[in-house]
This record gives sequence, C-alpha cells and structure tokens, in this order.
Amino acid sequence: MRKRAVSLALICILLVATFAGCSSTGGKNQTKDPSKDTSDVSQSDPSTEASDPSASAPTSAEDLTATQPHSTPEQTTAPSSNGAPSALPDDLKGKKLIALTFDDGPSKFTYDLISELNNRGAKVTFFMVGSRVSEFPDTVKFMKDSGHELGSHTFNHANIKKLSDDEIRTEMNKTDDALANACGQKATAFRPPEGAYTNEKLAPIDKPCIMWSVDPLDWKYRDAQSVYDKIMAGAGDGSIVLLHDLYPTSIAGGLRAVDDLIAQGYAFVTVSQLLQRNDTKVVNQNAYFSEKPAAV
Ligand code: NI
Repeated sequence: MRKRAVSLALICILLVATFAGCSSTGGKNQTKDPSKDTSDVSQSDPSTEASDPSASAPTSAEDLTATQPHSTPEQTTAPSSNGAPSALPDDLKGKKLIALTFDDGPSKFTYDLISELNNRGAKVTFFMVGSRVSEFPDTVKFMKDSGHELGSHTFNHANIKKLSDDEIRTEMNKTDDALANACGQKATAFRPPEGAYTNEKLAPIDKPCIMWSVDPLDWKYRDAQSVYDKIMAGAGDGSIVLLHDLYPTSIAGGLRAVDDLIAQGYAFVTVSQLLQRNDTKVVNQNAYFSEKPAAV
C-alpha cells in the first residue's frame, strides 16, 4: 500500500515537472522573456537589485541555477542586464528598415502603444525621461520584455549644453538607475532633449547620441492625420523618425503609418538594430541621424 502511494507521488512529481518544463519553453511569441529571470531574482533578493543593479546579472544566473534546477537552457541565455542592444535579426538584413522613436515618456499611453506595436511585429526605441520611469515600472518592464529598445532622454529633460560634465553624468546615472530598478536594464542609447548637444558635452555619455531624420512636429500640431502624412512623406529606408508617446494623436498617426509602411515592405527596428545594418560598429558619443543601406 505504502509502495503504491510512493509510486503515485513520484508520478505526480514527474507530471508536474514535465508540465513546468513545457510552459517555460513554450511559445516564442509569448511576451515572456528571457529577463524574467532577473525579475524573479530581484523579487527574492531586492537588496541585490537596489544596491547595485549592474551586478545583478551574474547573481541572477547563480541564483536561478540554485533555485530552479529544472530550468531550461533558454532561460540562462537571457540578455544581460548591462544594456547590450539586441542584434539586427538575420531575416531583416537587406530589408527596407525604419526606426521609429518615442521621446519624453513613459506616459499613461505607452503600455497600450507597446501592445499595438507588438501586434504589428514592430520594434521601436523609447527615449525616456528618468524622472517619469518610477511612475510606470510595469510599462518599462513590458517594453523591455517585448524587445523594444530603452533609451535615455536624461532624468529631468535637461538641455545638456547648459550642464557641467558632472551634472550630465548625474542626469544619465539617475536615469539608468531608474530603468534598472524598473526592469533590470539600463539605456542603450541617448537622445539629447531639444536635440541640443556639442561633441564636448557628449564626452561624459557612454552611449551613442541618436538624432533623427524625420520630424513630424507631432507635439506642435497634435493631429493624427498630420503625423501620418509627414511620416509617409518623409520616411524612407534608413530613416529615424521622431515622435512623442505623450499624445494620443502621435500614437494614432504613427500606428497608421506603421501599417501602411509595413504593407510597402518596410520593417520597424530599434535604432541600435538599424545602426548595425551595414556591419559598422556603433560608437558611443557619436551622433547618428539615419542609417541608409550601404551602396552596392
Ligand atoms: Ni524631449
């Protein structure tokens, strides 16, 4: 009798283990992502995350192995939390590419925008104001888990031309800390508020400076049709488009343009992915306005 009970228990354990294994590997289309590891660990050990976010990667891997012996190899290949940008997928090499960017968020509209972009298979870059990040931690985590790029737009939307090097470092570090606290990853690109920079002022910033080639002035007109028209008229292969995720009109016009440009054969990628298209190295402190395909 007892033997039978033990056998039954063993079968149950096996079933549970199998089920857990399936659910953790299943479905690449799910929003679940590799970074789940980091968040799980940060919940179990918040002190590690809070005290030194940059040190959380190796700790995560160790803790994970210790606490989840049945975890799959996929879980350990999570993007590191040091902010390395993702590569341009092979199937997008040679395609017409556009990088859509959203500044000044996150806002109450950003979460739904991410869902809409995900439905379209579009990746974008968000240049976030650090002081807003702690208000929307779930949005930032969803952004990162969905494969969008995290960019920094300083902590206080500061014009860096008016700041000392130390003040610039503080603006950048505080933003990276806020992002790391929200999702375990720092920003991988920088956009200067007001587009204001000098080469000297970029020196303390350890990220590429991303400008733009298409500016629909969405913040000024607040009109979805205008946003759509200006993107359709101005965007081409290699464009970097500037929008703001503070206005429903920007989001509506932007998504409509995404739909029509996808129908024209374009793919939407993050700025770092776009800059990798010609196999050139992306250089910190360099300013980028667009990245057309190399002439053949
Ligand atoms: Ni701005």
